[in-house]
Amino acid sequence: MKASYTAGPDLHVLPSALPVPGLGDQPVNAFLLRSGQPVLVDTGMPVDREGFLDSLWSLLDPADLRWIVVTHDDRDHTGALTRVLEAAPCAKVLANATAVTRMSEEFGIPQERLVTANPGNRVRTGDRELSFHRPPTFDSPGTLAVFDHSDGTLYSSDSFGTVVEGRVQDFADLDEEEFFHGFEVLNRAIAPWTALVDEAKFLRPVRELAALKPARLLSAHGPTVREDAVPRLFDAMARIPSLPAWLPGADLDLEAALDAHESPAG
Ligand SMILES: [Fe+2]
Ligand SMILES: [Fe+2]
Repeated sequence: MKASYTAGPDLHVLPSALPVPGLGDQPVNAFLLRSGQPVLVDTGMPVDREGFLDSLWSLLDPADLRWIVVTHDDRDHTGALTRVLEAAPCAKVLANATAVTRMSEEFGIPQERLVTANPGNRVRTGDRELSFHRPPTFDSPGTLAVFDHSDGTLYSSDSFGTVVEGRVQDFADLDEEEFFHGFEVLNRAIAPWTALVDEAKFLRPVRELAALKPARLLSAHGPTVREDAVPRLFDAMARIPSLPAWLPGADLDLEAALDAHESPAG
């Protein structure tokens, strides 16, 4: 875990990073909204669990946490979930039912502590209104992006992330060429199917999110992106289906192995 920082008033980022060999560091963020009915968005990686909990509870009394939005079931979003639920008796999980089913391969969430949502749903939590959306790129069918109508923040889960070298807090501080290169890599790495999609259909969720006019875009795997820069990420996302599928390096060259098998001995 790294030291927490703020992305807006009472909006704390709990940051870590996953080294990706040959590419750099993939940021791994969870977020805490401390005002009103406090909301935690995602719960970090299992390898960071103790540091994540120390960082979280240094910002908030566990008794005060009311909501844990789990954007999807991947381990980098659910690492401390059971421990947070144990420590915070008033907190309920908000997640998609498919994500909950997939999480149940590893742990259960008591039914009375669970509220399920689909893209298109809205919920009011105190004076905050949250709407749920399907982000354009995702690597779990249970993925939800969340828009907070009270302050204009879009929590985009895996989507709109990047891989860059070193510290990543604010888009404005980053080398843009490096950011958008990492953006094209990560959004295809988590969704290689973007090379197969109908581009017009792919644009629908991009336009839906752009129509919200987010004041702030927070990816679990990216820096804080503010107002004027946000449309540039929507533009970059719109180009993703025009790119070929991205694959990591591999030791096994399947085509070479097949060629060797098929060529006559001698
Ligand atoms: Fe994921
Ligand atoms: Fe993720």
